[in-house]
Amino acid sequence: MKILVMGPPGAGKGSQSAKIMEHYDIPSISTGQMFRDAYNNNEKIGIEAMKYIENGNLVSDEITNEIVRLRLNKEDTLDSFILDGYPRTVAQAEALDDMLEERGTKLDAVINILSSHDVLFERMEKRRVCKDCGATYHLKFKPPVKEGVCDVCGGELYQRQDDTFESVKRRLEIYEDKTKPLLDYYEKKGTLYQVNGMQSFDNVYKDIVLVLEDLS
Ligand code: AP5
Ligand code: MG
Ligand code: ZN
Repeated sequence: MKILVMGPPGAGKGSQSAKIMEHYDIPSISTGQMFRDAYNNNEKIGIEAMKYIENGNLVSDEITNEIVRLRLNKEDTLDSFILDGYPRTVAQAEALDDMLEERGTKLDAVINILSSHDVLFERMEKRRVCKDCGATYHLKFKPPVKEGVCDVCGGELYQRQDDTFESVKRRLEIYEDKTKPLLDYYEKKGTLYQVNGMQSFDNVYKDIVLVLEDLS
């Protein structure tokens, strides 16, 4: 199963991908999380990328394509993977098509999680993320058992650098301008499935499973 989870910032891509990964036991590739991990580990690429990320801008196609290419070259992604937040420009989508074509394969489905801007702002304002394992919480909708501490690994929870009001606004603008056109790109290929993201977490997941079960 090779799938791509798309949607505006805060739509629930990361949360739903984590659940798919756990349920189907397939690796999830989140370019945003890879950049954040690299930054938290003081790696050069992470420090460079954070200059763009914290202001809500996109990291360059070259850097992003390269980290995905390296990840897709690892054995565990040969048969199955979930892409979260990549591609998000037409140039990246074309680069991904080339990478997959080289391996004689292609995406099985592109799942787009729809949401309104009001919902997205609320989701990101109260989001907290684990510094160690990347697990995602929400102070209202998915609070950790112990304040400030990750339920999964006991790591410290923090607010993402790009979850400020200004940065969220910029990310939404960029989504509309650069990423939304990709929906057309995948619609034309016949691989696009829309899911309503403005429901409870479990109901969004149920709708995604309906799409995935239909593929097999
Ligand atoms: P990335 O980390 O991918 O951020 P994003 O696309 O802005 O999306 P988010 O991670 O903010 O939201 P999400 O959809 O994963 O929602 P989540 O599940 O957390 O990228 C960050 C940055 O990295 C980019 O801006 C860019 O700079 C750079 N970057 C990454 N990829 C790139 C690329 N391909 N090219 C160039 N640059 C790139 O959920 C949000 C919150 O809501 C959480 O608190 C969650 O608990 C809660 N929640 C989720 N679902 C529900 C629900 N159904 N009901 C109630 N609450 C919910
Ligand atoms: Mg995410
Ligand atoms: Zn954790």
